[in-house]
Amino acid sequence: MTDALPRFDIASIRDEFPILSQTVRGKPLIYLDSGASAQKPRAVIAAMVATMETQYANIHRGLHWMSERTTDAYEATREAAARLLNARDRSEIVFVRNTTEGINLLANSYGRGVLKAGQAVVISQMEHHSNIVPWQMLRDAHGIELRIAPISDDGELDMAAYERLLEDRKVGLVAITHMSNVLGSYVPAERVIKLAHEYGAKVMLDGSQAIVHRKVDVQALGADFYVFTGHKLYGPTGIGVLWGRRELLDAMPPWMGGGDMISSVSYERSTWAEVPHKFEAGTPAIIEGIGLRAAIEFVEAIGYDRIAAHEAALTEHALAKMSAIEGITIIGRAQDRGGVISFTLDRAHAHDIATLLDRQGIAVRAGHHCAEPLMRRLGLDSTARASFGVYTQISEIDALAETLGKIREFFA
Ligand code: ALA
Repeated sequence: MTDALPRFDIASIRDEFPILSQTVRGKPLIYLDSGASAQKPRAVIAAMVATMETQYANIHRGLHWMSERTTDAYEATREAAARLLNARDRSEIVFVRNTTEGINLLANSYGRGVLKAGQAVVISQMEHHSNIVPWQMLRDAHGIELRIAPISDDGELDMAAYERLLEDRKVGLVAITHMSNVLGSYVPAERVIKLAHEYGAKVMLDGSQAIVHRKVDVQALGADFYVFTGHKLYGPTGIGVLWGRRELLDAMPPWMGGGDMISSVSYERSTWAEVPHKFEAGTPAIIEGIGLRAAIEFVEAIGYDRIAAHEAALTEHALAKMSAIEGITIIGRAQDRGGVISFTLDRAHAHDIATLLDRQGIAVRAGHHCAEPLMRRLGLDSTARASFGVYTQISEIDALAETLGKIREFFA
């Protein structure tokens, strides 16, 4: 996409995604699994192909022109990510493989290097496994207590209970989702952060889902760390971002050692490169990093106002349509929610729903969504989940609802 779209023109947006024009078993593909991974616009594909066809070399190492140009293209993504998040400086952008790696970096570096045994980390009941397991590993290795902030039956963070977890001032870090990948709920990020700061804790937001749908301004939020993955934001797999406030990143030890993260190496000792390179050992995902810039520019060209309005309309429509189908239960009824809708259908297992939808060309996710503790909290073992992207159309939601109605009749 070269020009900013004058308005939210769904047909033009869909034209940017070559994959969407195909049919599945004679039916148009209806892709309602963007929460797991989003499709890629032409600009992302073109940026990656152009890199491989015209100017590819390793970065930060060579003195030849191709290495310099590839380095510039890769570093331009750091600039774009800093702009996307409104970071103070591009040095606050650490490239990682994905959200999972960003959280593991934080747990291993901030967790072991800055937090002290006896301190606590708070997560919530609606975390993805990637924001549970690294903290459990830290707890077991480093004597950190892990505290779980509860949610209401509607899928909202229980703010009073959250505050009680902070009151003894032992919490060093709150690591919490910005938007649940199962319930679609947003947490009230500004209030979560303000409270944590009042009790002396830092906050990391897992923005894997939220940043796809909503403008994120880390300075306005007052956040300390923010992590997201490229592939859900219409970018490539294998590239993500951990943003941290510079003074916090400076105080953190490196996590992985190797090439590119050092200032000098001898057998006796090594010294580290400046932030962010201190955290980026080894040859990174160069081509994917360059693709991520195109994805960020794609999102910026549409604009978050339009993305959010489109998504709100889709979500409202989907909730109304799906709620009207007898036997369907929408899981999670948060006031502030986005286009990720989990549901169950009486008498039908989520996997059967997904399989039957797939036969009609409709792709949804089914299972525990990498959130087993949340499933237990909800008294479920699985849900089916429809999740939307910029290319999702009202007519696709209508097709989903119509097919679910037929599936319900079949099981009745
Ligand atoms: N975290 C991704 C999802 O929710 C994979 O589907």
